[in-house]
Amino acid sequence: MRKQVLEEIAQAMVADGQGILAADESTGTIKKRFDSINATSTEDSRRDYREMLFRTTEAMQNNISGVILYDETIRQKAADGTPLTEIMVAAGALPGIKVDAGAKDLAGHPGEMVTEGLDGLRERLSEYHQLGAKFAKWRAVLNITDNAPSAACLNANTHALARYAALCQEAEIVPIVEPEVIMDGSHSVERCYEVTSAALTALYEQLAMQNVHLEGTILKPNMIVSGTQNAVQADVQQVAEMTLDCFHKCVPQAVPGIVFLSGGQSDELATAHLDAMNKIGNLPWKLSFSYGRALQAAPLKAWGGKAENVAEAQAAFAHRAKMNGLAALGQWDASLEG
Ligand code: 13P
Repeated sequence: MRKQVLEEIAQAMVADGQGILAADESTGTIKKRFDSINATSTEDSRRDYREMLFRTTEAMQNNISGVILYDETIRQKAADGTPLTEIMVAAGALPGIKVDAGAKDLAGHPGEMVTEGLDGLRERLSEYHQLGAKFAKWRAVLNITDNAPSAACLNANTHALARYAALCQEAEIVPIVEPEVIMDGSHSVERCYEVTSAALTALYEQLAMQNVHLEGTILKPNMIVSGTQNAVQADVQQVAEMTLDCFHKCVPQAVPGIVFLSGGQSDELATAHLDAMNKIGNLPWKLSFSYGRALQAAPLKAWGGKAENVAEAQAAFAHRAKMNGLAALGQWDASLEG
């Protein structure tokens, strides 16, 4: 492992005013997204949609430092035969790759999940490195109920995240470690704080145990928010303050960057939360975004599966990327939304 190579990639991923586009939807998930706009999901239509995003030069050059790809996409060529990875690299964005094999039911713990994919991971990482991947992603899924996540679930998931991270670094790929505490549920914002703290504490213990070089990692967490079915919803300032309080206690200063998932938040709320945290400032790590839905919902809708809507969809993507780039600097304002 060349630590300096990893550190340089990690720092580039959280360059000022830039963040990550999560475009790593599995074939099943992207089909659901396409169903919502009445578009058919085929290898070509998935390619056309993603090529449209990656060719949004303004967004890619100014606000997107890297893109998380799915296995199909990292191997795919644009309609003119150029590899999609080449298009994003030309625009200054790093290719990344989702390497986990998805969350499966955790045996013995009904309602809880464990993410699989460690078997054969060393060999897959080596191939992805050859295909140009500079970073990777592994997502653990942690559901909140009155008695979940259990210690067993936290342990199994954070152990797997640490084993994955060590293998990535061996292959000179920066691991994005993602312990996602799911927003669904009737729990309070305090309960989200409690579970997120437990998850992050377990994660950094496991990363230390596996000798992971923290300066060459990126954390992708949820924000501390109220459960979506709770009648009481924490406001933007409370979310920002509680999230920062939790991270100051649980995330080592050696971590260069934290990039949030959007997790089902509306586009503008995800931007407002990130902005509010950066406005509070005085942070030991960069705070930016790694949004999937909160970056893609607007362009997906504008596109609607039709070639004649490409320019409009690209404008929608460029706008969201710019708004989130400003939020990563604490310079966003609702009036800029237009
Ligand atoms: P969302 O921003 O849609 O939550 O997706 C981010 C992601 O990559 C989850 O793993």
